[in-house]
Amino acid sequence: MSFSTANYRVTLGGKQILKGLDITASAGRTLALLGANGAGKSTFMKGLCGLAPAHGSAIINGTELLGASAVKRAQLIGYVAQDLAHLDVRLSTYELLLLAQQGTARGWKTGKDAQRKAAEMLELLGLERFAESQPGQLSGGERQMISLALALVRSPQLLLLDEPTSALDLANQLQILDAVSTYTRAQNIVTLAIFHDMNLASRYADDTLMLHQGHVHCSGSTRSTLTPENLAHVYGVDCRALSVDDGAFTAIYPVSVLEPA
Ligand SMILES: Nc1ncnc2c1ncn2[C@@H]1O[C@H](COP(=O)(O)OP(=O)(O)O)[C@@H](O)[C@H]1O
Ligand SMILES: [Mg+2]
Repeated sequence: MSFSTANYRVTLGGKQILKGLDITASAGRTLALLGANGAGKSTFMKGLCGLAPAHGSAIINGTELLGASAVKRAQLIGYVAQDLAHLDVRLSTYELLLLAQQGTARGWKTGKDAQRKAAEMLELLGLERFAESQPGQLSGGERQMISLALALVRSPQLLLLDEPTSALDLANQLQILDAVSTYTRAQNIVTLAIFHDMNLASRYADDTLMLHQGHVHCSGSTRSTLTPENLAHVYGVDCRALSVDDGAFTAIYPVSVLEPA
């Protein structure tokens, strides 16, 4: 059970954004995808979903994603996008959870199984109170939580999270990321998550990969990768790594922007 890419490339508007990435990620683990604004993190995920033109290879548990049909990709991938405008529809969260389980959009077939899974997902993420709400009428953070429920309800093998907690308050950040970690381990899926908050990456990602100028700058265990040296190189910021609670957590504190070399 694993995910890997080989010579993974994306060109947009004549500019090569990703220049041949060789990435591996293990099942049951969360890999943080880091990099400065515009590094190509969102583009990486969009290419896997068929929303950007990707070349090379990207394999989840033996199945090639690039060139696979939209239906096949939807079976394999759960995706929480950065922009959630597509949730602005006249359907309730519960209805969307049922609809998300349809392999194709040909009529409604809401069996007992789909209803049970929808209810389970609401409970897992503590979203029961939003079952009858339309996501378009909820806050950005609430939409992010519902988007995660929609990604998980189809039991994906690969979970892609694009800044999944950017609009969440502190309690919801921890609640949602705890749920993601537990789910990733329990279901033995591969989770890739884009973070801007280094402290969340430090706490929740087993492994970390930093993108820089279209290449992988470094990758490995989060402990070995999320270092002041790598952060200085990729973000141009002088950071300190601080031990919290006798080493239970490592906090990253940004001190100052570095002069360009
Ligand atoms: N449709 C597009 N056409 C041309 N360039 C694009 C398009 N979409 C994104 N880009 C460029 O691709 C680069 C990577 O974007 P993105 O993947 O969104 O970065 P990140 O998520 O790492 O901040 C940026 O320089 C952006 O301007
Ligand atoms: Mg992005």
